[in-house]
Amino acid sequence: MNPYLTTDRGILFHGDCLELLKSMKNNCIDTVFADPPFNIGKDYKNGYDDKSNQDVYLDWCSQWISECSRILKPGGSFFLYATPELNIKFGNILNKYLQFRHWIAMSMKGTFRRGNRLYPAHYSMLYYSKGEPKTFNNLRTPIPKCRHCGGEIPDYGGHRNKMNPDGVNLMDFWPDTSPNRHKKFKVREGVNELKSIIPQRAIQISTNENDIVFDPFGGGGSTYQTAQKLNRNWIGVELYDCHHIKKRMEDEFGLFLGREPNFALDDIFEAVSI
Ligand SMILES: C[S@@+](CC[C@H](N)C(=O)[O-])C[C@H]1O[C@@H](n2cnc3c(N)ncnc32)[C@H](O)[C@@H]1O
Repeated sequence: MNPYLTTDRGILFHGDCLELLKSMKNNCIDTVFADPPFNIGKDYKNGYDDKSNQDVYLDWCSQWISECSRILKPGGSFFLYATPELNIKFGNILNKYLQFRHWIAMSMKGTFRRGNRLYPAHYSMLYYSKGEPKTFNNLRTPIPKCRHCGGEIPDYGGHRNKMNPDGVNLMDFWPDTSPNRHKKFKVREGVNELKSIIPQRAIQISTNENDIVFDPFGGGGSTYQTAQKLNRNWIGVELYDCHHIKKRMEDEFGLFLGREPNFALDDIFEAVSI
């Protein structure tokens, strides 16, 4: 598979992630971040058919989950963003290879109740590691403020003087991750992408500068843009339309486009030439 684009820190392939994964060596990646298609008939506006037989879909998922676990370094981390219903199944697959760390619940607004079910208000992100994590950076988030008066919301127990000035410890519930649905906030028209804060936190928690992040489902390129910005190296792949990713990287990191990645490709791939 030939690279579609490179930067000084990254390399994007245009093709099938399973095919790329098969060309990758064992134990070579620090963090995997995956936001797969959910097989719910969503229109990705890039040619991808998001509705196949559920057994075929789950079999495909076990293959890429097992491959992504294989390429992780000992102590590396795997973040998998999906609906709770899917993540219950994905967790069962991951349990065979990796160690569970967290189920991170993320607020999801703008959904609706169906039939005799509860109103779904969260998506989830599984966080696993290959044995004990080799990197865990504890993040802090600003003390929540009232959106009417701007004052701090005193749900920290009232001991304001004992609070860390950098904020509160990041929890396993993230209330600030719902996609911006209003047109004025949309980053790119018609592109399926996560709010960057999601891959950003995953990368910051589990890697240090120059570590390598792999995302098998490029989409709008949120993971690659975030990794590049945080001075992490990255490897990506997208089966369908890659031009949104290219545009995004050009807009923000134009100068670095077309450069050779600064990490050894021989350590990662059986055979890739740029
Ligand atoms: C949910 S989107 C990822 C969005 C991305 N996390 C972002 O925030 O920009 C999933 C993407 O996976 C791509 N895809 C589906 N099957 C694939 C495969 N076998 N290999 C690589 N990419 C694939 C789809 O075309 C779609 O763009």
